[in-house]
Amino acid sequence: MDILGTVRETRDKVKEWKAQGLSVALVPTMGYLHEGHRSLMERARKENDKVVVSIFVNPMQFGPNEDYESYPRDLDRDAGICRDAGVDLIFHPEVSEMYGDNFHSFVDMTVLPEKLCGASRPIHFKGVQTVVSKLFHIIPADRAYFGQKDAQQLAIIRRMVIDLNFDIEIIGCPIIREEDGLAKSSRNTYLSKEERKQAVILNQSLEEAVKAIDAGEKEAAKVREIITDKLNTCPLARIDYVEVVSFDNIQPIEEIEGSVLIAIAVYIGKTRLIDNRIIM
Ligand code: PAF
Repeated sequence: MDILGTVRETRDKVKEWKAQGLSVALVPTMGYLHEGHRSLMERARKENDKVVVSIFVNPMQFGPNEDYESYPRDLDRDAGICRDAGVDLIFHPEVSEMYGDNFHSFVDMTVLPEKLCGASRPIHFKGVQTVVSKLFHIIPADRAYFGQKDAQQLAIIRRMVIDLNFDIEIIGCPIIREEDGLAKSSRNTYLSKEERKQAVILNQSLEEAVKAIDAGEKEAAKVREIITDKLNTCPLARIDYVEVVSFDNIQPIEEIEGSVLIAIAVYIGKTRLIDNRIIM
């Protein structure tokens, strides 16, 4: 497995594979890899000849008071996980390699980034779209793998690829959970022991919502109320948002019909966690 830090070397390597007729997968990450990332790499490994993982904590997608500086980083550990998963190449650039002097270009979108995480993180998705576009240009892969845990991100990237005619297939992969149901996330490492215990409330509140929908509940407002009531039973939980939206355009809906995203963001202590269910 190679670890490359420059755009030129990485692009040349991937082009060499493409010239040999090999299929290439990209798994974009910010590192501190966990089981969720591993499941993306394993799926990519099964479906492609070559697998590239990018590890880059992208400063452009963090707001001024967010955790860019403290975001966990450990390349040696990540490289071990990638090697075990059969990854062929890690692209691990410095910030200066991705955003040199005089960087002035961005990729942005209307409508889809406005609600959910975009409401409290106004520049976040512009940063994600810009870096993901750059990665798609640097690594001309056939397929890119994203977790469904960041469902709004997945919807935005799918839309961007259609709107801007990127020649790449976007594969969304299921959320991987701890045994007690907490969605795996690099940010779970911020939780104290007590916070970790109470963090299961996110998944539990979504379970109750799905149970109600399975029993015939059709009203989005009622589904939001079920989730909010459950979250409010947890002393350490502070709700950022509880939303029921169309998965296609991330706009609020009144009735549960078509493809629906139920998405929540909740602070447990100081740590903001997200979780969701997609109902098709
Ligand atoms: O989901 C993430 O880890 C990041 O948002 C991504 C897609 C790697 C872009 O920095």
